[in-house]
Amino acid sequence: MDGFHIFPTFSELSKQDQELVVNAQKATENSYSPYSNYRVGAAVRLASGQILLGSNQENASYPAGLCAERVALFHISSTYPDAIVESIATVAKRKGDTKFKPVTPCGICRQVMLELEIRQKSNIRVLMQSSDERWIISENIRKLLPFSFEQDNL
Ligand code: THU
Repeated sequence: MDGFHIFPTFSELSKQDQELVVNAQKATENSYSPYSNYRVGAAVRLASGQILLGSNQENASYPAGLCAERVALFHISSTYPDAIVESIATVAKRKGDTKFKPVTPCGICRQVMLELEIRQKSNIRVLMQSSDERWIISENIRKLLPFSFEQDNL
């Protein structure tokens, strides 16, 4: 799989990537998800080295909620508009579970990540866990969203 790196276990990730995943796990603690009971955490590493977090935020009007990844990325774009996003890690846990469940970013979040990648003119790495529990690193977003809809289409 060109553009993807597979790590059978967490301990095989680099120390920096492990740190990002642990931060994403911490981010799930602030998930507001009383409707799905599905707690998602995202951790973003900027080129500066700074790590910022996001978690899914739901609402009684269901579509008003937002995924963890977009909470983190929109916060970054609005607070640090010149920041370069280097990597993003996503994890999820069902409320009451002790173990994290494999998760990969949803299609809408991939769309948002792609536009950010194009805007900042540098790749965004994505760390995620596939359903077979292996860790996957995508070198960029374009690989995660082939045949995408973009600004140039308008
Ligand atoms: N969710 C995320 O936060 N990120 C994803 O990539 C997948 C889905 C959230 C949205 C909603 O609050 C809950 O998970 C169930 O879909």
